[in-house]
Amino acid sequence: MKRTFSGVKPTGHLTLGNYLGAVRRWAEVDQHDSDALFSIVDLHALTVEHDPARVRRLSRQAATILLAAGLDPEQCTVFVQSHVDEHARLSYLLECTATDGEMRRMIQYKEKGARARAAGESVRLSLLTYPVLMASDILAYATDEVPVGDDQAQHVELTRDLAVRFNQRYGHVFTVPKATYPQVAARVMDLQEPTSKMGKSNDSGAGIVYLLDEPEVIRRKIMRAVTDSGQDVEYDREGRPGAANLLEILAACEDGNPAALAGVYQSYGALKKDTAEAVVELLRPLRERHAQLAADPGFVDEVLRAGAARARGLARPLVDRAYAVIGLLPVG
Ligand code: TYM
Repeated sequence: MKRTFSGVKPTGHLTLGNYLGAVRRWAEVDQHDSDALFSIVDLHALTVEHDPARVRRLSRQAATILLAAGLDPEQCTVFVQSHVDEHARLSYLLECTATDGEMRRMIQYKEKGARARAAGESVRLSLLTYPVLMASDILAYATDEVPVGDDQAQHVELTRDLAVRFNQRYGHVFTVPKATYPQVAARVMDLQEPTSKMGKSNDSGAGIVYLLDEPEVIRRKIMRAVTDSGQDVEYDREGRPGAANLLEILAACEDGNPAALAGVYQSYGALKKDTAEAVVELLRPLRERHAQLAADPGFVDEVLRAGAARARGLARPLVDRAYAVIGLLPVG
């Protein structure tokens, strides 16, 4: 059976982008048709300025949301990255496989690094090496498929390059994974700034639908989404990004096609209204289940404990093999 791995970073409250780009498919498809592991990748949340208590809170919240979204601990493995030492342990070997040039070319590093410098903040070294840790997350489990949104494409490409390079130099240890993307909504855009990705750590909440937003808040955010001044509704990602984003969100909610949906609407008002209702209905069960699970943190903790135990058992022998072939003396 193929192996799937994916993760979410607890740097903010999870968004509609996380759900449509990744989490929804994990629940609807991946956990059923593969041996799937899903991780709250908390070490990645330390690459930018962080508040320790908030990271802890967001990690538990992310785990609770994943379960509320339908991840079933009987069907898949849900765990917290820092509970499994092998990620950090493998990361060092991959730092010895990657080059600094490769790291500096990563778009997310360039963007986030530039933003931090502009704000007069220092840039943590881990922001530069982050993609290597992400490669370790994936490679430690002999992963075949990585279901992600398209902002992760470059990171998964790097992971493939590192796997191939390591295997060629030292012998075959790693499976070379491939990314998979949703058919629509692989990149949900910010409702206020539709040329930027809807990101959980963005400053303004007005353009971001959070998965736990109240229905009224979701409606308000979508009704106020920025569109262009066109009179008709057309699906044109380049020319009319705000409208295209709404059409993609609606299409994702209804398993439809954004271009076909454009033909159905005469006005942005009607499109926004239907999109808002579709999103509210899509997220309703998740919100309800989250409320139940949040009342029982012991259950979530137990899922995470068992998940980490299983993940450790899978990763340990593989990372041991990597340590051996690269030339490190095995423990006698
Ligand atoms: P993160 O936490 O930013 O996002 C989690 C998942 O949600 C997807 N996503 C989106 N999809 C569509 N539209 C959006 N606006 C949107 N925003 C986020 C992301 O593509 C991702 O699939 N580096 C990763 C976390 C990670 C990881 C891994 C993922 C660490 N190790 C190993 C896969 C495998 C990240 O920052 O995701």
